[in-house]
Amino acid sequence: MAIFELDPKKPNSDRRALIARPRRLRQSETLRAMVRETELNARDFIYPLFVRHGQGRTPIASMPGVSQLSVLEAVREAETAAKLGIPAVILFGIPAEKDPLGLENFAQDGVVQQAIRLIKREVPEMLVVTDVCLCEYTDHGHCGILNTGEHFQASLPEGYVLNDPTLNVLGKVAVSHAACGADIVAPSGMLDGMVIAIREALDVNGFENVPILSYAIKYASAFYGPFRDAAEGAPKFGDRKSHQMDPANIREALREAALDVDEGADMLMVKPALAYLDVIRSVKNAFPEIPMAAYNVSGEYAMIKAAAANGWIDESRVTLETLLAMKRAGADLIITYHALDAARWLN
Ligand code: PBG
Repeated sequence: MAIFELDPKKPNSDRRALIARPRRLRQSETLRAMVRETELNARDFIYPLFVRHGQGRTPIASMPGVSQLSVLEAVREAETAAKLGIPAVILFGIPAEKDPLGLENFAQDGVVQQAIRLIKREVPEMLVVTDVCLCEYTDHGHCGILNTGEHFQASLPEGYVLNDPTLNVLGKVAVSHAACGADIVAPSGMLDGMVIAIREALDVNGFENVPILSYAIKYASAFYGPFRDAAEGAPKFGDRKSHQMDPANIREALREAALDVDEGADMLMVKPALAYLDVIRSVKNAFPEIPMAAYNVSGEYAMIKAAAANGWIDESRVTLETLLAMKRAGADLIITYHALDAARWLN
């Protein structure tokens, strides 16, 4: 068969002189590394720990590799994280007993209070962040005091999460954490005014130097499913749509961020992360001066673990690519269950 051969020595009249060739900078790993725009580091991570009473570790079925930990095991896990260069853990507590108010949430010997004290004693360089919310502690699994019984307000539906009465409880919880040595408190309930309420409670109790990382933009997301097993905090009825945000909204995210900044939030969070990278970018552009965290939530973790367990994806590459995307979108910090693995892969 006769084919056409181009004479390489003759200028080809069809060939354009390509002045811009982005591929020039992709020719070797050294060159690619030199022009890389975003870098993921172990120091970007905040590692979540689920702390419970009793001994040992209780694996969480829907989150392979994650367990509920005794206070001692939580300390061990914090040590491991510290050795890998991870600067912070965030604590979630599973109380011995649940009640309508969630009393263990601000008890002297509450499980989170014990864990804060012991981690700060044994691993003092580790920053301890605490989740400040009611849902893991209340018997109904909601993030606040409900409109029922002695608190009943006829103008609101039965079972509605009451805003202002709950703020007082959040203040108590935050102060109890700070008193045990928590470095940062992170209110996650999406109640109006939670940041200023906690700021005032901390300040009048002498904790004006404890920063607030606000879960400012938290969506009513199906991606929290595995967490609710882990923290045993699923609502017993209804959902969280009367306080968490509608996944359809992004302008509202800017309003939530602005309110929390006004109320004194030192850092902001967007949650979940993966399906909300546009929100992370928008909030970062609007508040470039405020450090921002993204919460790579339980459902995002479970999806990677499940696909990897089936051999359908490369776990380390997909995980690092996902976390990098969150940074590229504008997150300065990432709360992630992958923290230990990711730090090992990066080191
Ligand atoms: C509430 C809280 C939740 C998560 C973190 N804090 C659950 C919820 O709002 O229902 C979810 C985290 C995750 O899914 O990894 N205290």
